[in-house]
Amino acid sequence: MNLFSNTTYTDRRAGLLRNLNTQNDSHGSSLILIMGNTESPMNYRDNIYRFRQDSNFRYYFGINLPNLHAVIDCASGETILFGNDYSMEDIIWVGEQESLTSLAEKVGIRDIRPLNDLHKYIKESDRKVLFTPPYRHDNIILLGSLLGESPLIVPSLVSEDLIKAIVAQRSIKTEEEIVQIEDAINITRSMHLTAMQSTAPDLYEYEVVGAIHQSLHASHAELSYPIIFSINGQTLHNHHHDNLMNSGNLALNDSGAENPFGYSGDITRTFPVNGKFNSQQKEIYELVLKMEKDCIASCSVGTPYRDMHILANRILLDGMKSLGLLKGSVEDMLMANVAGMFMPHGLGHMIGMDVHDMEDLGEQYVGYTEDIERSKVMGLKSLRLAKPLEAGFVITVEPGIYFIPQLIDKLKAEKQHNDFVNYDKLEAYKSFGGVRIEDDVHITNKGAKVLGEYIPKEVNEIEEIMS
Ligand code: GLY
Ligand code: MN
Ligand code: MN
Repeated sequence: MNLFSNTTYTDRRAGLLRNLNTQNDSHGSSLILIMGNTESPMNYRDNIYRFRQDSNFRYYFGINLPNLHAVIDCASGETILFGNDYSMEDIIWVGEQESLTSLAEKVGIRDIRPLNDLHKYIKESDRKVLFTPPYRHDNIILLGSLLGESPLIVPSLVSEDLIKAIVAQRSIKTEEEIVQIEDAINITRSMHLTAMQSTAPDLYEYEVVGAIHQSLHASHAELSYPIIFSINGQTLHNHHHDNLMNSGNLALNDSGAENPFGYSGDITRTFPVNGKFNSQQKEIYELVLKMEKDCIASCSVGTPYRDMHILANRILLDGMKSLGLLKGSVEDMLMANVAGMFMPHGLGHMIGMDVHDMEDLGEQYVGYTEDIERSKVMGLKSLRLAKPLEAGFVITVEPGIYFIPQLIDKLKAEKQHNDFVNYDKLEAYKSFGGVRIEDDVHITNKGAKVLGEYIPKEVNEIEEIMS
């Protein structure tokens, strides 16, 4: 099993307790319950989806196995791991495994108790139980029974202090985490190079998706999210891969690896199916590339990421005005949120063990502060990260420009943005698709560093690889 040293896990747990006490010193007598994930059946109990451990569990306790839960006693600082060791029946079916005692020792835990003792322990301790928002139904049901509450109200009982303490800690990536994130990105890089090299006219999208999977699994990695590979890049999270690709289409590949230590990459590249950008594609592509590079260069400690989203919008508006697709003042267009029509998603998000890091804990805690109100307009409302950047954050920068024919037709019919949009000229873009370019960036006191080995993104570099 891929584990950091035991001091990594004991230090993380000690840091969590310190952070929690900073939130509120009344937690001295509480118990922190972090539930691991169980196996999820696909169509009957023993035919299962890939097991994915809960990220909080793996962060604090390392062990990447199902059916484990852990309690940290805030008074003593001690951890109890609840879980069952392999039985002979398990060994017969799945082979001999390292014992739970041995694994627990490697993550600095000595107190291991049978899974079934969790109920009795929680009941008899009669102490406040702090937990994070459960997102799997079996854990919601378990929590209901542990707390003697209806599963329906369990999600409302989560501990905000615990959430804030975890977010404060997991947001700042350590050097050993950066090494793992870079490993995930380097595997992701091979997926992207493979996609560029295996894309050609008259192939189906799923044939390229197959090649991406081959590259991923040959690195002993898993997907950090379902592959988005499509000639319909204007559909933001397009998970369909059944189109025949034609010369003249653009292909958008948003795919990433989760490496064996459980860290994620999240990269997007867009390229022409026939290997050569036409002039219309090149103009829009170069504009998105400028949005991406300028935003990365402008990221620094203290800069609100919301400002970076607005910078991307400003470059988009300015560039599309130069191309004759928009008209009027860029400032007025910013105020009227014309950019949301062409980039209806946020500029980026935190990344780490989760591709949208810690999203289970709630976006308002991960990406916002109490002083930053979430916008309600298209684009900005989907911004997952708005707060000032800090040294140690790892974030994605992923601007895009999309021509969504249904949205264009709707806004045109409603006469929206008539002062700014040259709808007649947009007609020629309605089968364009979309361009997104995404990299993963480490914020340090020296600025912003794109992580991983370089993944080609200049027009000439992509054309060279595809030639
Ligand atoms: N891969 C999904 C995203 O970029 O957020
Ligand atoms: Mn992303
Ligand atoms: Mn992505």
